[in-house]
Amino acid sequence: MRLPVRLVRFAFGLLYGPFAPIYDWVSRTFFLGQWVHWQQAALLEAEGRILEIGSGTGALQQVARDRGLDWTALERSPQMIREARRRLGSARLVRADARALPLRGGTFDRVVSTFPSEYILSPTVLAEIARVLQPDGAILVVPLGVLRPDGMFGRLLDRFHLLVYGDAPPPHGIAGPAGVTWTACWVDSPHGRALLLIGRR
Ligand SMILES: C[S@@+](CC[C@H](N)C(=O)[O-])C[C@H]1O[C@@H](n2cnc3c(N)ncnc32)[C@H](O)[C@@H]1O
Repeated sequence: MRLPVRLVRFAFGLLYGPFAPIYDWVSRTFFLGQWVHWQQAALLEAEGRILEIGSGTGALQQVARDRGLDWTALERSPQMIREARRRLGSARLVRADARALPLRGGTFDRVVSTFPSEYILSPTVLAEIARVLQPDGAILVVPLGVLRPDGMFGRLLDRFHLLVYGDAPPPHGIAGPAGVTWTACWVDSPHGRALLLIGRR
């Protein structure tokens, strides 16, 4: 059984908007502290000039900055941007919609997206990603993580995740952008694993 999709969308809309101040608490608590590890799966192949889209509260951008990576983040929600600014102070952070990236073509070696919502399936967004990427660039997407259901709390959370996300098989790629071939690999974390999709031309 899965909760109605419209209800789930509505709840996530609240979490990315007025409830953004509790986003980190929610993702930490409901995924047993694995969320930050899963986000960092995207850093395995991160090099050169990097654009993160849908960057949320800036948690991955903070890790990237600490590692000295050349990182620009882009996020649509003003509340998420506010949280990210609180965390990062000054940082390369753009408020924009991924369907119309206000960025020059061919600028980035990598485009990163962790736990994207449906925008990552939009042909318009995928065309925009292709436009800003260098010809030999790569797209790094972490679409999901799964907990190892250790203990009673872990098993309960597992049930809860099924209610919210359903039990669709993990994707092995994304249909687009044109000319991009996807590979998939699992990256272990202390209490689970994250799926990393890598798209290359
Ligand atoms: C599930 S959250 C993931 C946030 C962060 N990447 C993480 O790993 O926690 C999805 C994020 O994508 C943002 N988003 C949704 N649609 C977007 C769009 N069209 N353009 C830019 N950001 C978008 C939301 O505001 C939200 O912050």
